[in-house]
Amino acid sequence: MIRLPDLLAGSLIAAGPGYMPERASSVAEGVDHVFGFLFWLSAFFLAIIVGFTIVFVIRYRARPSRPGPEPSPDHSTRLEIFWSAIPLALVFVIFALSTKVYFAMVESEPGATPQRVQVTGRKWSWWFDHQGGKGSKELHVVAGKPVELVLASTDVIHSLYVPEFRLKQDAVPGRFTKMVFTPTVAGTYPVLCTEYCGTNHSTMTSVVVVHPDQGSFDAWAAEGKGTEETLLQVGVRVFEEKGCSACHSVDGSEGVGPSLKGIWGREEQMVGGAAVRVDENYIRESIVKPGAKIRAGFEDMMPPVPLDDREIQGIVAYVQSLKEGP
Ligand code: CUA
Repeated sequence: MIRLPDLLAGSLIAAGPGYMPERASSVAEGVDHVFGFLFWLSAFFLAIIVGFTIVFVIRYRARPSRPGPEPSPDHSTRLEIFWSAIPLALVFVIFALSTKVYFAMVESEPGATPQRVQVTGRKWSWWFDHQGGKGSKELHVVAGKPVELVLASTDVIHSLYVPEFRLKQDAVPGRFTKMVFTPTVAGTYPVLCTEYCGTNHSTMTSVVVVHPDQGSFDAWAAEGKGTEETLLQVGVRVFEEKGCSACHSVDGSEGVGPSLKGIWGREEQMVGGAAVRVDENYIRESIVKPGAKIRAGFEDMMPPVPLDDREIQGIVAYVQSLKEGP
C-alpha cells in the first residue's frame, strides 16, 4: 500500500538534486531546469486545488440546516478571462523555456564542426558508425567535443536514450533524425531503447564511452582498423555498382544529372523555385524517389534506386566526402 507521506517524500526526492542521474552533457542542465519548473508548477497547483477541495467539502457538506444546493451565481466574464489568461501565460513560459533547450539539441553552434556518428537502430541492437570509419556496437565520443548523432532505423521505430545526457531521439525507418550535444564528463554510461519495439525491446541496450581526450579516442578507433567496410567504402562501392557515375560526376562537371561535388550542406535551387538544403534526408529522397525534387536546369529522368539503409548511409558519407576544392 502506498502511503501519502511516502508519496510526498518520493516526489520531493524526485525533484531534488541527487535523485537524477549525473549530468554528463551540455544539454542536461537545461533539461533538468525545464523538468524542475514543470514539477514545481504542477506541485503548486496540485496543493491549491486539493487544498480548496478539502476545505469546500468540509465547509459545504450536507447539513439538516442546509436544505439543498444553492442557485449558482451568474456567469462572470471577468472570472473566465482570469482563469484562462493565467494558464495561457504559463503555457507560453513553458513553451519558451523548452524551445530554448530543444534548439540546443537539434542545432549545433555556429562555426562548430561536430563529430558525426551515424546511429542505426534495428531489432534489437544499436550500431554506431563513427567519423573516420570505425563501426561499433558502442558509441564512442570525446569529452568537450561536440557530437552530431544522425539516427536511422532498418525496421520499426526505436528511440536512443542516454539518461546521463538527458537525450532521447527517435530512430524512424525511412528517414534520418538528428541530435547534437557535447559530452562533458568522461566515463561510461548506459544507452537504452525507449520506444517499444517488440520482444527484446528491454535488452536493446548499449553503452556510450566518453573518452577523456582525443588521443584515447584515436587509440580505440585504431583497434582492428581496416577489417570492416566503412560507410564511405560502402558508398564508393555502391556508387560504382549501381551505375550512378554514368550521370553524376564527382569532379564538378555537370552531366545528365547534377555533379555531387561540393553539394553537401549547400542550398540548391529546385524546379519550381524552392531552395533545398542538401542533407541526409534530401539525399535519401533523391535516391528512392528521384522525381520528388528536381534541381533547376535538369530533367526528371532518374529511376528510383532500391538501396538498403546501409547503402543509403554509405552514399551520404560519400557525398559528404566530396567537398569543394581541388
Ligand atoms: Cu528498439 Cu525498443
